[in-house]
Amino acid sequence: MTTDAHELVRTLEALKDEALKALEAADSEESLEAWRVAYLGRKEGRLTLAMRSLGKLAPEARPAAGVAANQVKTALEEGLARHQQALKERALERLATEQRLDVTLPGRPLLLGRLHPTTQTLREVLAAFTAMGFQVVEGPEVEWDRYNFELLNIPRGHPARDMWDTLWIDYTDANGERPMLLRTHTSPMQARVMEKTQPPVRVVVPGKVYRYEATDATHEWHFHQVEGLAVDEGITFANLKATLYEFARRIFGPERRVRFRCDYFPFVEPGVDMAMDCFICKGQGTVKGAPCRVCKETGWIEIMGAGMVHPRVLEMVGYDPKRYTGFAFGIGVERVAMLKHGIDDIRHFYANDVRFLRQF
Ligand code: DAH
Repeated sequence: MTTDAHELVRTLEALKDEALKALEAADSEESLEAWRVAYLGRKEGRLTLAMRSLGKLAPEARPAAGVAANQVKTALEEGLARHQQALKERALERLATEQRLDVTLPGRPLLLGRLHPTTQTLREVLAAFTAMGFQVVEGPEVEWDRYNFELLNIPRGHPARDMWDTLWIDYTDANGERPMLLRTHTSPMQARVMEKTQPPVRVVVPGKVYRYEATDATHEWHFHQVEGLAVDEGITFANLKATLYEFARRIFGPERRVRFRCDYFPFVEPGVDMAMDCFICKGQGTVKGAPCRVCKETGWIEIMGAGMVHPRVLEMVGYDPKRYTGFAFGIGVERVAMLKHGIDDIRHFYANDVRFLRQF
């Protein structure tokens, strides 16, 4: 080694001793940081400067001096890490003794909330229709007889009123009639929307509905529906089929097939019951030889009522039924959720049991 190199090594050794001694005195985060900058700082650190002068040595002297320099650097870095760790441990100990905290206890888990399965399904259903150009509107849950029945072509005394078990509000008007009720379906919004707007109409109406009904596995006295209504010039049954077909595919999978059969609802003509092929047994009625429980071996699942808006319904809101036609449909939201997730009892939806809710 050249004299220059010897000298540099001596300087480095001295620097190391001095630095390690200074390190002993550093007893806070700030002083440790100041120490780090003073010795190891990338621009003006003393070790950094010393190492930079390695470059001035004769090439043969560089390796040996370089090794020495690296050893010093490692010693300083290890010393720093040791002190930092010790400082941390002391701080924790202080917390534990002074504040009587068990800092080793795991933190409290943050409980993540989530949307109720009814809400999730409702949003999926609405998303399917808004993607097809429908607007979402909402209406009152306490409704007038006029909207819930009369403007839907179900006048007082009409036997079709028996289709809905109704919760009447205890209020009698001047004529001695009880005109107010908890809506039995979301259909009353059909007239409310048409009274306020001119065609084209394309709306879906999500909401809660009420029935005077004993509950069992498939009946609740309140549940959710999504009503749909499209009115325009030239709307045909083909439009109804295409729209509801697309809905079934979006919610239950692209391979779904649909079936329409005649059904009766006073506000549509013709009225239909729409079913899709069972997505569990693929319409076979059996799964691996066993009867399919979801479709009860029929291969079909009924998912909604629908139909072409009755001309009287259009007339009553002032639409010209010669010029305009339309279709309407009503979907039970819990029923869709039950089918999608294989839920066997509608009462689960309102039981508020987290063991049930957590699964969705
Ligand atoms: N409102 C009916 C119910 O609750 C469902 C329904 C059937 C709605 C046919 C419609 C429709 O719009 O066209 O039973």
